[in-house]
Amino acid sequence: MRKKITIAIDGYSSTGKSTIAKELANKLGYVYVDTGAMYRMVSLFAMRNNFINTHGFFREKLIDALEAIELNFVFCEEAGFAEAYLNGICVENEIRTLEVSNYVSKVAAVPEVRKKLVSIQKELGKNKGVVMDGRDIGTVVFPDAELKLFMTASADKRAQRRFDELTGKGEAVRYEDILENVVKRDYEDSNRKDSPLVKAPDAIEIDNSDLTKETQFSLIFDLVVNKL
Ligand code: DC
Repeated sequence: MRKKITIAIDGYSSTGKSTIAKELANKLGYVYVDTGAMYRMVSLFAMRNNFINTHGFFREKLIDALEAIELNFVFCEEAGFAEAYLNGICVENEIRTLEVSNYVSKVAAVPEVRKKLVSIQKELGKNKGVVMDGRDIGTVVFPDAELKLFMTASADKRAQRRFDELTGKGEAVRYEDILENVVKRDYEDSNRKDSPLVKAPDAIEIDNSDLTKETQFSLIFDLVVNKL
């Protein structure tokens, strides 16, 4: 039996981290954990309770309610991956809207939120055999991960991908709004005080602006095989 490793995939939003992470996990028989989904679920919870809205962000209220948030991933045969569950209810679609994307960086900047989610993430990956994607996986959650990838792509390529994804699901969005969200989140994620998005010194950077999915997969899979 081959040894199991930890694969940490960090990078900017809409760089295809989750696609590659899911593919790797399926091929290797590893667990896949989408940590962005966890921050999105906390944001959805905050939105539903009016802790964050157009009037502002009432962060103390969210902090006080953190204990009432239960996050899970449940494997869905039809989808082929583990879907996000907030307090026992599947919210896989609800967490992907532009509205959630517009609030999530503010919620993810709260140290109490990060502390709770990082501790769940460490638990989920404690037995290795995991592919985890996010912003701080190689720097904070698993600084000893055997393989660390840092994904980048130009902002307009990323906005176009997200635009295609959302319009494909029937959401009425404008490309300009998506691009603005991508650029704003890059800034907020990279400049927050707690665990900002930075490339770990030992992470391998992959710019996939001009890579096909197939080329990218075989390139990354070779990196994995080298570590096994
Ligand atoms: O990967 P994503 O776009 O679904 O992530 C949503 C947001 O969550 C992103 O803007 C920043 C935050 N995030 C984070 O701060 N740390 C992580 N490990 C994962 C996501």
